[in-house]
Amino acid sequence: MMIDIMCVINVLPFPQHELRDEMKNAVVVVIDVLRATTSILEALQNGAYRIVPVSDPEQAMKLRAKYAPEPVLISGERAGLKIDGFDLGNSPVEFTEEVVSGKNVMICSTNGTKAILYASASKTVYLACFRNLQAVVDKLRSATNDIYIVCSGKLDEFCMEDMACAGAIVERLSATNRDYQLSDSAKTARILYLNYKNDLLRLMQESEHGQYLTSLGMASDLDYCAQINVSPLVPQLVDGILVQP
Ligand code: MLT
Repeated sequence: MMIDIMCVINVLPFPQHELRDEMKNAVVVVIDVLRATTSILEALQNGAYRIVPVSDPEQAMKLRAKYAPEPVLISGERAGLKIDGFDLGNSPVEFTEEVVSGKNVMICSTNGTKAILYASASKTVYLACFRNLQAVVDKLRSATNDIYIVCSGKLDEFCMEDMACAGAIVERLSATNRDYQLSDSAKTARILYLNYKNDLLRLMQESEHGQYLTSLGMASDLDYCAQINVSPLVPQLVDGILVQP
């Protein structure tokens, strides 16, 4: 079916202070390739019951008490490392079926959950990474509202892997039979993606955060996060909880 409404696609390199008014009725897609949105996708894929993004470790601890006696795992990182007293860090390979199935998971990461909470004032919020790229594109294809892709970035700065993933979404949407009006940042994201399209692992390896994770001994996470289109799921934020609709 041909949809002839012209949508804008805009890409934010990292979250701003407050969600812009025009974003409240738009479709917002949050990306943190390394590693929060990849880990959340994995947790939902492996049967986590509810995933709650939280802003700080103390809130995660409080929520664990609030949800008890339901099974709750608290997960997340600071400077890439598991937070003291937490059950899990933020590596996607930790969120196996055996570990997360049927459980509530509170997740607290430095930039990823911050970006999700920033986007939460919008009516429609999806999460993307390379592993569910095409599934996200398929959802967005029928959107009649403008699309804002929010990269998590790193400590209020641009990061390459999120921007390239945003560019992959732009590229695939542009290849459909719809006309989109692309912002300068959307055009730039697309160029970045096209530069790395055939070697996403190299993209991860050349990124600052990829190099940092490698220095912590987590290079295998880069391989995992570089895999493309292995999941049909698109996590959605509904009333503060990440679910697979
Ligand atoms: C973040 O939210 O900053 C990240 O996902 C960091 C990481 O775990 O690599």
